[in-house]
Amino acid sequence: MANGAVLLSLLAFAMRCEAIVNGQAFNATPAKLLACPGAVEVTECMTSSQYDAVVAAVRGKLESLPSTCTASDCPQADWAGCVLRMAGHDFMDFANGQGGSDACTDMEDPENAGLPACLASGEHGSSLQEVYQQFCTQVSLADFLVIAAEAVIASTRARAAGTASLDLRSIFRFGRRTASSCDFAVGRLPDPERGCTAVEETFVTRMGLTWTQAAALMGVHTLGRAQVQNSGYHGWWSDPENSRKFNNNYYVSLLAKGWLPELAINGNSAKNQWERSDIGRDTSVAGHEMMLNTDLCLAFSEGGGNGGPVRAHEHNCCAWLSARTIDGAVRNNGNEYCGGNVIRGRGDRDQCCGRQATRNDCGDKDRPTGPAAAAVLDFAADEAAWLRSFADAWQIATENGHSQLHRLGDCGSTTETAASSVSSISSTPETTSSLPTETVTSTEWASPDSSLSSNASSVSGFLWSFACLVSSIFLRF
Ligand code: HEM
Repeated sequence: MANGAVLLSLLAFAMRCEAIVNGQAFNATPAKLLACPGAVEVTECMTSSQYDAVVAAVRGKLESLPSTCTASDCPQADWAGCVLRMAGHDFMDFANGQGGSDACTDMEDPENAGLPACLASGEHGSSLQEVYQQFCTQVSLADFLVIAAEAVIASTRARAAGTASLDLRSIFRFGRRTASSCDFAVGRLPDPERGCTAVEETFVTRMGLTWTQAAALMGVHTLGRAQVQNSGYHGWWSDPENSRKFNNNYYVSLLAKGWLPELAINGNSAKNQWERSDIGRDTSVAGHEMMLNTDLCLAFSEGGGNGGPVRAHEHNCCAWLSARTIDGAVRNNGNEYCGGNVIRGRGDRDQCCGRQATRNDCGDKDRPTGPAAAAVLDFAADEAAWLRSFADAWQIATENGHSQLHRLGDCGSTTETAASSVSSISSTPETTSSLPTETVTSTEWASPDSSLSSNASSVSGFLWSFACLVSSIFLRF
């Protein structure tokens, strides 16, 4: 069964490569799914009130869905999660000035499974299609997808009732060009199995984020869930109610709960994740809580064994931390520690990992050493610190690849932006954490300089093209 799955994946990869080697463009991009006669490629002018009109229309769609939220049915979390994930998948293909938020990605790529629903076919009966039709002759799809994501963030942030504010409107700039083809993007979406290697490659090396900003961006997983029929993974990053609120609960969940490897999800050995292991876990299928390798690795690395940031299929360990190490996270978790009362000392490990669990810990329970451990601790304790870093990361991520962007209302002049010039577009200092900003455990986690990173990208691009060529020859025989 597992071999069959691997063979099928190879065949799918080879067929997609065949199409690209033969110069065929993707059959389904967001622009093809959201057809609009007279759609503009670039937004010529956008005022604050036009931005607000798009936001209000998208929020209206989201907020008109039933507000019920149970473990098996939470329509607003699903819809908001899908729209935000769409924007993320759009910008995560950025490398060497190409890609970014250009509304171009292969919607038939298995990594994008589930996304056509909120885009066009209908998630809980609702999609962005009707909203886009109202604006498509003035607003490029590339800008529209970013604003739609900002709208669901604003709506779910309002629901979170947190005191810290997040104002993405004040830093928004329009002028992204919708791309009609983006074949270069094949294979660029990060594979969760690769853990922090994929996080580093996508966010740090290609997109130009710091580890702190990469960790801040991953906080989007506070919304929505993973479903087997989409990604092969299964579960919520936290409890369902929190999964429709844009809050720092992702970090709280990551630290204030215990996690054990969960291998071969739904019998698929290529899909491995971490499941909640503490006494507070929901044992029902619907209420299953999980973390991907790419989430947990931010904070946890294992000193022994294979070393490095954790991966479920390689590190048979329990990811948990002592209560004193995570007092800020526990405070923001209603003083709940691993599903129960705070225990300092004897019995804490059993409460977090269960009695039967391997005695192996994912690193030191008093000193997490994942590449963004300090940031995760900081964000779990201080929501405002997360939102500041998130705004910086969001602006970089959504502006990468676009050289001529304008502030709302600035319809006459041009503001030049170096495509990957990170520092020029940061609106606030990189982090205000009182903790060390990065925990670098080995040279592997050091941010490479730009020449190294672009060399790395060209080498991986070459290797990818070579693999593509070989697999397309394989397909012919
Ligand atoms: C290393 C980077 C990332 C990896 C490996 C990753 C992986 C995943 C996976 C496997 C899912 C489950 C999808 C499903 O089963 O429906 C998911 C969901 C989600 N992702 Fe990511 N993701 C990453 C980065 C991002 C970014 C940058 C964004 C947006 C800015 C994002 C937003 C979301 C959202 C909101 C969901 C929930 C979707 C829903 O409920 O339908 N992710 N992600």
